[in-house]
Amino acid sequence: MRDKIIVALDFDRFEVAESFVETLKEAVFYKVGLQAFMRYGPRILKLLKDRKKNVFLDLKFKDIPNTVFWAVKSSMLFDPRFVSIHLSGGKEMMKKAVLAAQDSADTKILGVSVLTSFLNEDLIETGVNLNTEDAVIKLCRLGIESGLDSFVCSPLEIKPLKEKLGSNITLVTPGIRPHWAAKGDQKRVFTPRMAIEAGADYLVIGRPITASKDPNGAFTVILNEITG
Ligand code: C5P
Repeated sequence: MRDKIIVALDFDRFEVAESFVETLKEAVFYKVGLQAFMRYGPRILKLLKDRKKNVFLDLKFKDIPNTVFWAVKSSMLFDPRFVSIHLSGGKEMMKKAVLAAQDSADTKILGVSVLTSFLNEDLIETGVNLNTEDAVIKLCRLGIESGLDSFVCSPLEIKPLKEKLGSNITLVTPGIRPHWAAKGDQKRVFTPRMAIEAGADYLVIGRPITASKDPNGAFTVILNEITG
């Protein structure tokens, strides 16, 4: 179960991220996103690899198929367990991403559907005349047709996705808040236990752990909550 908790390493400075990884002995899986990657990406990826931690490289690639192929290929240098791409990049792009990762048995391409910052009216503004749930299901279906089986989704979408697309897909879910943690800018949140019970396979958790005075303690409480 420990490897179901992916800690979002959202720190501005390498030294802070490095000492956090040293401190948080409990965690085995980290997410490196754009904030960290743009400052010190390859260094932190190497550090995590050296420490035998699993990595979710969350750069949400979306470009022409050839460019995404080479972006995923280059990511393979760091042996990530997950690499994210936007499903809206289309079938050809997704197939190329899968192809680029195919030699690495441990790497899965994770499809991002509709950003959770989007409301129905935001989708309409971008020319998509579907509500967010229908758009998410449509994009994930397209992902499956392109060779993907793993997706990032909000806790609210776990049940509809598993009902419509089958329980053998892998779902990675941010927007998680234990009842004792501040919500911050997350609005529609699930507790870790609610998300696991709904069918989440992995939980992405940042500030409830990273902003805690006792990150190991916070991690352990969350782990006990989902296993107990
Ligand atoms: O600190 P917090 O637990 O809110 O961090 C959640 C992490 O997941 C952050 O890295 C955030 O960018 C990311 N994320 C999210 N909601 C999404 C997609 C990613 O919170 N829909």
